[in-house]
Amino acid sequence: MSDQVLSKFTPDTQEETDYSKAKVLKFGIIGTGWIAEAYIESIQKCPDIEITAAAEVIPGKAERFFEKFGMEGVHLYGDHRAMLETEKDLDAVCVCTYNTQHAVCAIDALNAGINVILEKPMTVTLDEAVQVVRAEKASGKLLSIGFQPRMDANMQMIRRIVQSGELGKVYYIQTGGGRRRGIPNSTFIEKKTAGIGALGDIGCYSLDMVLNAIDYPKPLTVSGYTSSYFGANPNYNTPKDAARFDVDDFAAAFIRLEGGIIIDFRIAWAMHVDTPGDTIIFGTEGALRIPSTECWNGTVGGPMKLYKDVAGKRVETEIPIETEIKNARGLFYKKVRSFANAVRNGGGAPVPSDQILLNQAILDGITRSAKAGREVEIELPKDI
Ligand SMILES: NC(=O)c1ccc[n+]([C@@H]2O[C@H](COP(=O)([O-])OP(=O)(O)OC[C@H]3O[C@@H](n4cnc5c(N)ncnc54)[C@H](O)[C@@H]3O)[C@@H](O)[C@H]2O)c1
Repeated sequence: MSDQVLSKFTPDTQEETDYSKAKVLKFGIIGTGWIAEAYIESIQKCPDIEITAAAEVIPGKAERFFEKFGMEGVHLYGDHRAMLETEKDLDAVCVCTYNTQHAVCAIDALNAGINVILEKPMTVTLDEAVQVVRAEKASGKLLSIGFQPRMDANMQMIRRIVQSGELGKVYYIQTGGGRRRGIPNSTFIEKKTAGIGALGDIGCYSLDMVLNAIDYPKPLTVSGYTSSYFGANPNYNTPKDAARFDVDDFAAAFIRLEGGIIIDFRIAWAMHVDTPGDTIIFGTEGALRIPSTECWNGTVGGPMKLYKDVAGKRVETEIPIETEIKNARGLFYKKVRSFANAVRNGGGAPVPSDQILLNQAILDGITRSAKAGREVEIELPKDI
């Protein structure tokens, strides 16, 4: 994971606080795979965070991982529970496991009274996400979900435009994105580790981009579709990966939200067209077009355009894209930094679970609806 890539659209005009004299926070890592590397790279830029412990279920992997970063003295465990039972002074853990282990690791850490930053997607099912939020509430600890595009200036601009009222009442959103070819491998493509495919990997981001802009209204119903015509086909994937591929590589949905808002969504790891379309937010007073390319790193595919009527004339305003790199530390650094600041200073989670629970409810609804072959209702428990 290169922070250079993640930094591409990361302007930062604010002066950094000096944390070199601050009390050092002790962090643990659960899962020493690919994303854990991005955490280490960011944490190494934070003088006030020390990684004191890590858990990894694959024997020898954690040792190699820390060797690569030249880090000595990290207490290593073969199981996250052993780590949580022994390491009583951890301030926080980063849950960097594959998706199917997110819920259990986050719940165990919260039950142990430790703050958690949990990678995306929050979980695989809505039920798991509900259990995580219940554990968070019972623990009184902080839980933040790893959506680094939230830290991107362009993504923040989308929310600012919607919140400014320029669009009037938002009633319809077309969103999604994906890649012509971009099927990952490793633990992303099997139900036993990933649970869900493109839907959970990149779909959660494009939903967050628009749901965050409109203050996360509750989802009511979903009519979803999923397919795997590319991932499971050896013409488009390596024969070895095609044989074990059992998740979605494409998903689409028609989602009804509270407040009379519709989301028309599609996401792809692979397809025969270059893009499944821009993200467009329709409002009664204006519309916003967001040329969407990547989802995970918060980039937009070109300048956004605002469409309105002004004095009886139809006008289009280009929103300048933020590309200037003033702080090369990147979105990942900001994700870790903002979480550490919340742990240190209190206050809310940078990416709160009560919002991402609704994102998860939609992913869960799409999966259920695709399986059932019909529209499904989204039911959220009353206690959270
Ligand atoms: N935010 C981002 O940009 C981004 C990018 C890539 C991946 N991710 C997310 O990060 C997560 C991990 O992805 P990855 O590519 O690093 O996967 P990975 O398979 O490379 O790494 C996961 C590691 O967790 C270990 N593990 C699983 N269960 C464990 C447990 N209970 N205790 C200890 N270790 C355990 C595995 O053995 C593996 O080494 C996924 O949920 C993925 O969606 C986020």
